[in-house]
Amino acid sequence: MKIGFIGAGAMAQALAKHALDGGLSVMISNSRGPETLTVAANRLGCETGTAQQAAEFGDVIVIAVPLYSFNKLPKEQLKGKIVLDLLNYFPHRDGYITELNSLRMTTSELVANYLTDSTVVKAFNSITVEDLRRDARPEGAKDRRAIPIASNDQEAKNVVARLIDKLGFDSVDGGKLSDSWRFERFRPAYCVAAPKEKLEGILETTTRDTVVADGYWLHHRFV
Ligand SMILES: NC(=O)c1ccc[n+]([C@@H]2O[C@H](COP(=O)([O-])OP(=O)(O)OC[C@H]3O[C@@H](n4cnc5c(N)ncnc54)[C@H](OP(=O)(O)O)[C@@H]3O)[C@@H](O)[C@H]2O)c1
Repeated sequence: MKIGFIGAGAMAQALAKHALDGGLSVMISNSRGPETLTVAANRLGCETGTAQQAAEFGDVIVIAVPLYSFNKLPKEQLKGKIVLDLLNYFPHRDGYITELNSLRMTTSELVANYLTDSTVVKAFNSITVEDLRRDARPEGAKDRRAIPIASNDQEAKNVVARLIDKLGFDSVDGGKLSDSWRFERFRPAYCVAAPKEKLEGILETTTRDTVVADGYWLHHRFV
């Protein structure tokens, strides 16, 4: 399987490393051009390209950019592709977005409303980059943690679940994109290190009123 990354920062590089370790092909990209990615690509051992090329390259394309860039994604080249969206909303960084502040929409619905011809799957927004680097485990490991995922397309969700398994994590079905608020910021599942069954339980018991403080996950590790 080929994974294209739009964005080549902390999250993209951490995921790219797991993908390469799992024998997958990787292309990373950013907004400044492939010539700015030589050091990272040499270290990882992957290809580089423009964002458009990474979108064309991948069977799955990971969008690992700040949320404020979502409407600069190469919509045309992402047509018909599975797009793995790991974006989180930080108003101080991304600007005030009414639909998100009012909780009328999830971040993934915002992205999916822009990428109308792609299939968006939410995954990996709910793990810190530090944990992403160190918590990957082989299938069946006792301390393997799970990643919540959501999509309106079951087949795409299955493809991403298999990819997540290759990257060293279990996955938990968090429903449709409209349900993904359950693992956005300020919810108990957000960035919490938990095995599959525990994470399923956390998601099930999260209601619209269940809100936790920023950094909650630092004091709640279940693996
Ligand atoms: N860090 C975490 O712990 C963590 C955890 C979960 C989710 N996330 C989310 O994951 C996303 C990425 O986070 P990160 O920590 O990896 O950020 P980062 O280190 O700042 O990397 C962002 C990358 O996006 C690229 N970029 C920005 N605008 C772009 C555009 N229009 N086209 C192509 N590339 C573009 C940047 O490169 P150029 O500026 O050179 O284009 C950079 O390579 C964010 O939405 C974040 O909220 C982060």
